[in-house]
Amino acid sequence: MRTYLVTGGAGFIGSNYIHYMFKKYDNDIRIINVDALTYAGNLENLKDVENRDNYTFIKSYICDKVAICQIFAENDIDRVVHFAAESHVDRSIAEPEVFVRTNVLGTAVMLNCARAAWELPDGSYRKDKKFLHVSTDEVYGSLPEDENAFFYETTPYDPHSPYSASKASSDMLVKAYMDTYKFPANITNCSNNYGPYQFPEKFIPLMINNALQGKKLPVYGDGKNVRDWLYVEDHAKAIDMVQEQGRLFETYNIGGHNEKQNIEILNIILDTLQEMLPDGDPIKANVSSVLINYVSDSKGHDRRYAIAPDKIKAEIGWEPETMFKEGIRKTIRWYFENEQWMKNATSGDYQKYYEEMYKNR
Ligand code: NAD
Ligand code: DAU
Repeated sequence: MRTYLVTGGAGFIGSNYIHYMFKKYDNDIRIINVDALTYAGNLENLKDVENRDNYTFIKSYICDKVAICQIFAENDIDRVVHFAAESHVDRSIAEPEVFVRTNVLGTAVMLNCARAAWELPDGSYRKDKKFLHVSTDEVYGSLPEDENAFFYETTPYDPHSPYSASKASSDMLVKAYMDTYKFPANITNCSNNYGPYQFPEKFIPLMINNALQGKKLPVYGDGKNVRDWLYVEDHAKAIDMVQEQGRLFETYNIGGHNEKQNIEILNIILDTLQEMLPDGDPIKANVSSVLINYVSDSKGHDRRYAIAPDKIKAEIGWEPETMFKEGIRKTIRWYFENEQWMKNATSGDYQKYYEEMYKNR
């Protein structure tokens, strides 16, 4: 039975990936999930897998070299899927150091422990061992508004925020391991994800939650920044396909073919909420474009991201499957059905975060 070490599996994409993998492979794989449970990690995301015999949760920081190397020593890990990171751009502008610690140092620890466990005396690697580093399209910087410009795997890195600089650094470390030690790895650079279990600091769940509560909907700048949105389950599938069918040492870009301005996304959310809320529901009256509130722009706000997922399609046959209209309905339905999840996520520290982040905008 193949054993996966997933880092950051209690977060948004990691938990969706774990669900996807158990749905696909059931009892044919074993998953060890290592997560520090920062503000973004939530074991509620994994309630329905926590009692499986082939699932283990270990609470640990990825920067803790002793703990991470011990996990490798005690388990015959075949695959690493490395999600753990500080992931929110706005927070990185306020507090860059923690991004460097987790995203750069943490990745170095993961690489080092995997190499120590997998490398043979002659410098080759134990058969069938693979490390997949999950990264972002933000490492490529910002595209002009010209619709014919895209990010390719060959696009030079040009990160702007402390978040994207730390992810770019972690990608470079993985590349250095592949070049120096022939370490068996892949890197994937993906566009913006949306779907169930996304923490409401991110645009889509924040807007859904605020709209349902009749709160203002803070749109940065002119609202015309473009992101390329991908349904999270499609991302999970791409990661699995890259790890099983991709060529080692290669980078693959993953994107949704779904570029939209932030204001367009917000209008779709408002229209979809209107459609999905039953007539007579008092909340329905709250949901209106009157709530849209243009606020001051973020520092260094990248204008446009757009991935060309041509290589992954040509080499591996992966394509985004979920149309945005369908994905956003599934996402909104999930938030309707998981009101308590949202209440828990937005209690306590979230209120302080929100006040601090939005007070001077
Ligand atoms: P998230 O913030 O929802 O989850 C991050 C998880 O990592 C949390 O469970 C958190 O507890 C854990 N974590 C953080 N620091 C840790 C540490 N030092 N040690 C151990 N665990 C730690 O993030 P996400 O949106 O699920 O993103 C996952 C990965 O995918 C990240 O590497 C991110 O850069 C990348 N990515 C995200 C997106 C997106 O749209 N969200 C797009 C492309 C790439
Ligand atoms: O592109 C991939 C990246 O997408 C990932 O690497 C990051 O981990 C992930 O957080 C995401 O980064 P963004 O900054 O693009 O995501 P966010 O959801 O925070 O914002 C999306 C857009 O919406 C962005 O242009 C900023 C804008 N925005 C965001 C928030 C939270 C607003 O206008 N208002 C808001 O309140």
